[in-house]
Parts: sequence; structure tokens; C-alpha cells
Amino acid sequence: VILTRLIGQAELPQLDPFLLLDYFESGDPRDYIAGFPDHPHRGFETLTYLLAGRMRHRDSRGHEGVIEPGGVQWMSAGRGIVHSEMPEQVRGRLAGFQLWVNLPAKHKMDSPAYQEFAPGEIPRERRGPGVLLKVVAGVSSRGTLGPVRQPLTAPLYLHLSLAAGETLEEPLEPTHNAFVYLIQGTLWWPGPAADEERLEAGRLAVLGPGRRIRVRAGRDSQFLLLTGRPLHEPMARAGPFVMNSRAQLQEAYRDYLAGRLGAD
Ligand code: CO
Repeated sequence: VILTRLIGQAELPQLDPFLLLDYFESGDPRDYIAGFPDHPHRGFETLTYLLAGRMRHRDSRGHEGVIEPGGVQWMSAGRGIVHSEMPEQVRGRLAGFQLWVNLPAKHKMDSPAYQEFAPGEIPRERRGPGVLLKVVAGVSSRGTLGPVRQPLTAPLYLHLSLAAGETLEEPLEPTHNAFVYLIQGTLWWPGPAADEERLEAGRLAVLGPGRRIRVRAGRDSQFLLLTGRPLHEPMARAGPFVMNSRAQLQEAYRDYLAGRLGAD
């Protein structure tokens, strides 16, 4: 599958508690038809948010479903699942994000769990004709509550649309890490004229410490705004396993090879 790894690569290995962010977008089935056949996960959670197309997931414990455009799947892998994530289409556009969110050490071996929401279950908050928020997780400053619940890392996951010239201002939790990914358009961080910063489509901006974000759209823009509570814990990471020590990683591989990881 052709994808862009935004977090979880050399320039940005992680942004605690976010371990990985992939963006996939193509109208050419050769870019996505291979999908993601059976693979394991242990020690963290994945949030899949589809913008276009449909994906079917199926796991080793008998859980199965299809994610629709605008729909969300939150999977807490906990002590382990083996699953496949495959396109439910042979033509047309497929686009979306997969985010990996870490789990605190004492919850890495919890039972796997899912939270799944159809497009109509993602609340929309309209702030005037040119400002629209979709709240996937967390709560907006005006009280719109997203359906995904995870108090351990308290993620805020907003998908925003700003018409050209519109401004978004939103308070942020100052102790949480935050970033913006611009899907399309141009965003400006207003400041003294010489200090204005511009973000172009396809770029991710890690936000510095602060109590709020204020951005203005230069052109009609769409972006993600995510924040989460950092765990500040030691990490041992290899492929689909994210634990706290090398011994725990080795245990994960042993369990996987023995067929125990997705079956207990
Ligand atoms: Co997976």
C-alpha cells in the first residue's frame, strides 16, 4: 500500500502519546488493493478514520466490520490481536488516516476492545458558514463531544474545514502534545507581519507549548488537529509491538510465533 508516514519516521519518530500517523490517498487501485493482510499488534491502540472508500477489518478473535467514508474505528490492541485491514473495493478512491496511540505500561496487557462509529455518529459543530468541526474524540471548547472515549491519554481528534479567510481559535490543554496536519489548502499562524508562519497542504506542524491555537485559512482548507496526554514512560518498539522493555518485546514475538498473541 502506498502511504505517507507522517509520525513514526526519522524526522518525527513519535509525539508522545502518538506513535505513528499514516495518510493514504489514491484513486489507483494498484496503490491500495494489497491492503494489510494478517498482522499482529500489542501494547497500543489504533484509530482509523476514513475520508473516502471502504475498509474491512477482521481479527483473530472473531471481530469483523467495515469502516465507511467518514467513519471511525478505535481498536485497543491491548495484550494482542492479529487482524487484517483490506480495501472493500476494487476501484475508486481510498483515503484516510491511521493513528497509533500508546497505552500506559499498566494497561498494555488489557483485553482488546473496539469502539466503532458510523459517519453519522461523528458530531459536527458549525461555527458560522465557513467553519466546520467534526469531533472524532475529545470535546470541543463549545461542548461538542466526540464518540471515541479514552481517558488514559485523553485524545482530542478534530477534523476541521475552514473557508478562505476564516479563523479558528480553540483553547488547548497546555500539558498535552499537539499537532496539525493540513490535508488541503493553506494555513497561517497570525503574528506580527514578519513572523507569520505558513503551512502548506501535505505538511504536519508540531505545536509548541501554549494554551490555545489560532490559525487562519489562506485558501479553503481542511486539516486535522490532534492533542493527547503524554505518558513519559520508557518505550521499546519493534514493528507492530510497542512495549516498555526489550524483554517484553521478546515475549510479544514468542507469543506471536506460538499463536498465543491473538487467541487467549
Ligand atoms: Co493493523
